[in-house]
Amino acid sequence: MKIYIVGVGYVGLVTAACLAELGHKVCGVDIDAKKIEKLKKGKSPIYEPGLEELLKKNLKNKRLVFKTGIDKSINDYDAAIIAVGTPEREKDGRADLYYVGETAKQISRHVRKKEFVVVGKSTVPIGTAQQIRDSFKMYNGTKTVFHIGSNPETLREGNAVYDFMNPDRIIIGGNKKAQQALLGIYKKIKCPKVVTDTKSAEMIKLASNFMLAMKISATNILSRVCDVTGADIDKVTEGVGLDGRIGPSFMKAGVGYGGSCFPKDTKSIRAIAEHHRLDTSLFDSVIKINEDQSKWFLRKVDEMAGLTLKKGKIAVWGLAFKPETDDIREAPSIKIIEDLLEEGAEINAYDPVANVRDEFGGKIKHCKDMYEATKNDQILLIITEWDCFKKADLNKVKKQMATLKIIDGRNVYNPKKVRSLGFEYLSMGRP
Ligand code: UGA
Repeated sequence: MKIYIVGVGYVGLVTAACLAELGHKVCGVDIDAKKIEKLKKGKSPIYEPGLEELLKKNLKNKRLVFKTGIDKSINDYDAAIIAVGTPEREKDGRADLYYVGETAKQISRHVRKKEFVVVGKSTVPIGTAQQIRDSFKMYNGTKTVFHIGSNPETLREGNAVYDFMNPDRIIIGGNKKAQQALLGIYKKIKCPKVVTDTKSAEMIKLASNFMLAMKISATNILSRVCDVTGADIDKVTEGVGLDGRIGPSFMKAGVGYGGSCFPKDTKSIRAIAEHHRLDTSLFDSVIKINEDQSKWFLRKVDEMAGLTLKKGKIAVWGLAFKPETDDIREAPSIKIIEDLLEEGAEINAYDPVANVRDEFGGKIKHCKDMYEATKNDQILLIITEWDCFKKADLNKVKKQMATLKIIDGRNVYNPKKVRSLGFEYLSMGRP
């Protein structure tokens, strides 16, 4: 099929490259001309394993092209996918649909076909597809019949290409024509396909992210119970997760969830419930536990560093909100570092890819490697569980540090082993 993708940010770009790889002819469109120029040269503006290879390959075989701005060439395509950003509105936590609305307006102004399929991929409040349908009626002069679909993305950053090609399921919402188009687009991917209306499809996405965020917050609150009682959260989640009704995934205790999805989507679904005067207490708890989890970690820093913290030198390993991404949006590292800077600490940070020189206004030192970051430091904090930290040579770290103290916010090490090397060691919910 010929597919026009509007918005080549994180979701749109991965979708464009993967759909081209599946054999479709794809045009990726964005208002950011600089980004489009970069993409035309096969350069990915984001770090995502496997993405640049797919870009280069499909640009070369001409299944993938990029363009700045929506124009009449949209009429050469069978369907459009809207993948523009839906940032959180500061005033009420609801998703801002400005870009979705603008895109719908532009599409309806340029489409001259009798019928056209438009699919929403961005994460949106329930009922957005319906609003798009209504806006088309308003702006399209030629009375095109628009078939509206909803096909929310379910990609994890850092695994997006793999997730796209190997999903647990694909959500297909819309009227019959939109459903048929989506089933055609994903014909080559073998997995369960949930075929439904647009509102349910939109809700599945928000509900999935909420359930996953809830599992993480449940684990983190249980890890605090472990901290105060002496139980071991890793063993607790192993035991609990082996119950097939609960399952083991998304039960890793840590410094809390971050990124552009869970924080935004939990607030978005909460805002919907509040708007309709439903009980929001479960949403509130999940969000609050997550916000407090970095404070729980900082309490450990206080406990271990004591009065020396105020003018202490602190090594921070990991800035990204999770491994295999350069994304630091809503990353727990931000809250933790800001708090420590306020206390007067000196921060030596290292992350293998997250480049955040501006994020802390030049107040932290970005080190070239993880060992350099620990030089003369009093305490080492692990915030993101990158593989290189798991494999770090702690004997080398030992030689660098002024005092041997580690707080492991992601439970990457075996406590006994680290302590046997002479480190004082605290982790999340483990004795
Ligand atoms: C999440 C979902 O997993 C995707 O299915 C969804 O498509 C995506 O949001 C989205 O809405 O676009 P993502 O935010 O990339 O994907 O990252 P996850 O791997 O889900 O991790 C989110 C956060 O939870 C990270 O900060 C991670 O460190 C944390 N986490 C995850 C935990 O603290 N514990 C866990 O057990 C799992």
